[in-house]
Amino acid sequence: MNTPAHTHTIDSRDDANERARQSTMLSPRFYTTDFDAFDRISVEGMRSQWDAMMQEYEGDNNHDHFQRDEAFQDELSAAMAKWSPELRQELFDFFVSSLTSEFSGCILYNEIRKKIENPDIQQLMTFMARDESRHAGFINQSLRDFGLNIDLGELKRNKHYTYFKPKYIIYATYLSEKIGYARYITIYRQLERHPELRFHPIFRWFERWCNDEFRHGESFALIMRANPDLLRGMNLWLIRFFLLAVYATMYVRDHQRPILHNAMGLEAAAYDYEVFRITNTITEQVFPIALDIDHPEFRSGLEHLLQIARAHEAAKDRGGLVGNLQRAWHAGRALVAFTRLYFVPVKTQAVLAEPRLRPTW
Ligand SMILES: [Fe+2]
Ligand SMILES: [Fe+2]
Repeated sequence: MNTPAHTHTIDSRDDANERARQSTMLSPRFYTTDFDAFDRISVEGMRSQWDAMMQEYEGDNNHDHFQRDEAFQDELSAAMAKWSPELRQELFDFFVSSLTSEFSGCILYNEIRKKIENPDIQQLMTFMARDESRHAGFINQSLRDFGLNIDLGELKRNKHYTYFKPKYIIYATYLSEKIGYARYITIYRQLERHPELRFHPIFRWFERWCNDEFRHGESFALIMRANPDLLRGMNLWLIRFFLLAVYATMYVRDHQRPILHNAMGLEAAAYDYEVFRITNTITEQVFPIALDIDHPEFRSGLEHLLQIARAHEAAKDRGGLVGNLQRAWHAGRALVAFTRLYFVPVKTQAVLAEPRLRPTW
């Protein structure tokens, strides 16, 4: 079943900016945290790996990557002539949501940098904010082609900020960087195999781009490995929660863009399971548990959650008293479905001896 991504389309710059500002369960959020706690994070336990990583950031192998080449414009013009109106909408939605998450990282890393004195974390945040600001800027250029560019200053001032404890930020950032890598590399590899399906030149940039995300994730892996309490005891329940929250959100969200995935020769569920598989493998560097993504109850539970999300969306569009009652009902059902998924048995695994990984997917 194909449902439209959103009832409201992105037809103007106002629409695009409105979409970026939106705060829903599924839309990318902006975060704030307890900065003093970040000031106290020590990476001494991983000093040599940390210093090697800072050198890599310093080397900045992507400093010239986020610029368009000569072929870009011609490729874009040829490709867009073939877009269906639905593909166009889903692509704009994909750009706006990707830009919002890139920029979310940029803001958070910058804020941490400004508000702490811890030289290690400050240095890391400077490099990460540098990378995310390039990423956000590059996507914004692709929105600007259609007069849909996001006013980042305005977004920074007016979008709602969610408070997360530092520990939550660490798990969530680690996961979203690694998932970001897995998402971009899976698309890149697919289009490398099928260049005829590359309906926008920006996908050519994804390989070197996702190496930035991979490295960002590596930094947080080192932070966790240097503070192993984060990876045991009751914290495993939190890790399990974040894994599920991130995977489930992605699953529902990607199914809102079926045409975009089909245009790449991918199907949303298959694409997501490939991304989960890669992410599960990567997270062996830190987490002693992984979600059992092949468990039949996991698969049916995610599908069930998706159906509830669709019903919720339909109730929202209906509006009025009945619509509101239906929304509350579906929100309750979603909570039950999520809780069931949370208790699907997880897999335990031996954490890799070597904390660093290479992006070899
Ligand atoms: Fe990024
Ligand atoms: Fe990143």
